[in-house]
Amino acid sequence: MARRAIEASRVIVTGASSGIGRALVVALIERGASVVAMARRRERLDELAAELQAGERLVCIAGDVTQAADRAAVLAACDTQFGGLDCLVNNAGIGGLGPFAGASPDRLWRIMEVNLFAAAEFTREALPLLRRGRAPLIVNVGSVLGHVAVPGKSEYCASKFALRGLSDALRIELAREGIDVLLVSPSTTSSEFFERAGEHSGITATGSLRGAMAPTAVARKIVSAMQRGRREIILSVGGNLLVWLDRICPPLASWILKRWG
Ligand SMILES: NC(=O)c1ccc[n+]([C@@H]2O[C@H](COP(=O)([O-])OP(=O)(O)OC[C@H]3O[C@@H](n4cnc5c(N)ncnc54)[C@H](OP(=O)(O)O)[C@@H]3O)[C@@H](O)[C@H]2O)c1
Repeated sequence: MARRAIEASRVIVTGASSGIGRALVVALIERGASVVAMARRRERLDELAAELQAGERLVCIAGDVTQAADRAAVLAACDTQFGGLDCLVNNAGIGGLGPFAGASPDRLWRIMEVNLFAAAEFTREALPLLRRGRAPLIVNVGSVLGHVAVPGKSEYCASKFALRGLSDALRIELAREGIDVLLVSPSTTSSEFFERAGEHSGITATGSLRGAMAPTAVARKIVSAMQRGRREIILSVGGNLLVWLDRICPPLASWILKRWG
């Protein structure tokens, strides 16, 4: 995996209207990158552009990652405005809460569609541009729950485990073309994510965000991993401990998660 400069790199960030994606756009622009920011809520993107005043270095496109035409518009804008693409960040993601048995099939379908299929197809479609890029990189935002499964979030875990598998396979497959793949696995982060996961599931999100990382801290770690050519980062000490425990003693990890997960 190559070390790379962020300054003057050309980056697409999906899910840029809030949380980690928004913070990542800010961090990249501050470090001199040119960014195409994508999400569905146009007003949020307009606010971001007004705040950053980055001129031609920031292009905001309102679109849905699950729509092929919207992904094509983002790639075309990046090529036209910046003359190419160096990094695709598949960050857009949604959650779901509650037991699997009583949930509607729509919940599983929608979560897989946004978290896995859209990221996979965006990657495939971006490859022709990335092959011409400088130190090209794909960043997939997974989760600690893509390493360790917990109850009540089964569809989300399935989507993030699958995204991890895809990332690991593509890292090897694309290495011969000089395209790197970085998998980022955040643990709890203070964003709109849980509120919205409750909405998607038709229930009210409960639980504490105590100890959650700030999106700005997550963004800083992602930028550093991009620069240093890391293949994978698991954010937070707790996240690393859980992944480690699940590897060396799965029954103990399951017991802890059953009790406190
Ligand atoms: N928060 C956590 O604790 C946590 C932990 C581990 C991993 N993660 C992962 O981190 C990533 C970012 O989450 P976050 O915490 O920043 O949550 P967030 O604040 O809810 O942000 C999610 C972003 O994804 C966008 N998005 C959702 N569906 C989309 C679609 N169909 N098309 C385009 N954009 C879409 C949303 O924008 P619009 O609604 O405007 O489209 C929003 O900008 C996700 O992949 C999530 O799974 C989060």
